[in-house]
Amino acid sequence: MSNKTATLTIGNESWDFNVLPGTVGPEVVDIGSLYAKTGRFTYDQGFTSTAACESKICYIDGDAGILEYRGYPIEQLAEQSDFLEVCYLLLYGELPTAAQKADFDHRVTYHTMVHEQMSRFFTGFRRDAHPMAIMVASVGALSAFYHDSTDIADPHQRMVASLRMIAKIPTLAAMAFKYHVGQPFVYPLNSLDYSANFLRMCFAVPCEEYKVNPVLARAMDRIFILHAEHEQNASTSTVRLAGSSGANPFACIAAGCACLWGPAHGGANEAALNMLQQIGTADRIPEYVAKAKDKNDPFRLMGFGHRVYKNYDPRAKIMQKTCHEVLAELGIQDDPLLEVAMELEKIALHDEYFIEKKLYPNVDFYSGIILKAMGFPTTMFTVLFAVARTVGWIAQWKEMIEDPGQRIGRPRQLYTGQTRRDYIPVSKRR
Ligand code: SDX
Repeated sequence: MSNKTATLTIGNESWDFNVLPGTVGPEVVDIGSLYAKTGRFTYDQGFTSTAACESKICYIDGDAGILEYRGYPIEQLAEQSDFLEVCYLLLYGELPTAAQKADFDHRVTYHTMVHEQMSRFFTGFRRDAHPMAIMVASVGALSAFYHDSTDIADPHQRMVASLRMIAKIPTLAAMAFKYHVGQPFVYPLNSLDYSANFLRMCFAVPCEEYKVNPVLARAMDRIFILHAEHEQNASTSTVRLAGSSGANPFACIAAGCACLWGPAHGGANEAALNMLQQIGTADRIPEYVAKAKDKNDPFRLMGFGHRVYKNYDPRAKIMQKTCHEVLAELGIQDDPLLEVAMELEKIALHDEYFIEKKLYPNVDFYSGIILKAMGFPTTMFTVLFAVARTVGWIAQWKEMIEDPGQRIGRPRQLYTGQTRRDYIPVSKRR
């Protein structure tokens, strides 16, 4: 704890507040007593300057383009780790030993099946339902099946629910995809690793053997690592706020899915690919860049910009590299979408508007090109983001529940509505 203080002065009154240091990154001014001391709230629409919690899970330096999970740089994890090892790291705080990894992989693998009645749950949806609509509903429905892991006060039940969520989310995602395309569900295969299993559940059909392409499985695994966790983003903050009321973990993750679906957040990968298809050819890029810069036009370059990164999103660099690997493996030469994306990036990064506003490609800019090449429809892109981010949501939820200082989140407001007035009977209203 530092002995630094910040002084707030309003008129001829002053108050001191403690300044707390992190291990790295910005200090915080602890204003927990501000209302009690001053009768005033802070105001920070969009929480651009607000630390909502203390956390040890993920560190981002937006100006330097740094992303670390439990202190390990994302570039090293993407290159040298695998997704389940990253799940272990995010949940427990340390990289597992070989024995711990084998045990964790086994426990996750043997939780990948969902209750058989879940398959009947899906038939209630129209076939053309957006897979994210199915995910929000089916993830929430898990709390109707797994009552024995909803008591959040029980550490054992918390861990069982965490494992079940990480293990079953790919199965539910694959089921949402299969239902969407009208093909039969494919059961998980325990002999496959997490990402290979997911690809097989998505693309295998009962009529023939399905051999998972190891290059695509590795790319899928790396995409999951890149999307696993990202500090207090909108969907993670949603999960924390839902969890702060004591809601069960399945309901909290369903709330996270709902928030992630928005095009300003996890829905941007679907929106970015649709934008690249709309642009179509490189010669039309200037027209769209002009629209993005036009204050009167709501159009934004999807996959560009970030609340925190005011430099290149480190995940976008790795995603671009993975994009070239996947297209090469699939023998896709000169993908027109990649051409447009790379030309758009080049133009935008040299345009004074984007430079001044520090707008760079983010994690969603290249991911859609890879996922489309792998055979996923754009409607599945955010579902894949949700599969990966489930471990980040669960790790943050677990950290919050296990924080002895945890209390229900209940922000206040700046009220600018009507002051008190008396009811007017309808006969007297004009
Ligand atoms: C994710 O938070 C996370 O960590 C999220 C995420 C994660 O891993 O969880 O990283 C995942 O959500 C990535 C972001 C995906 N979203 C998109 O790609 C959608 C397009 N981007 C924008 O909507 C926007 O950049 C946001 C939502 C990402 C950030 O919005 P902010 O921080 O509120 O920034 P802003 O809207 O205030 O923009 C600042 C300025 C504005 O201009 P002025 O009002 O100052 O004149 O930059 C402009 C904006 O108009 N701007 C853009 C732009 N993004 C911002 N202009 C054109 N195109 C864009 N993409």
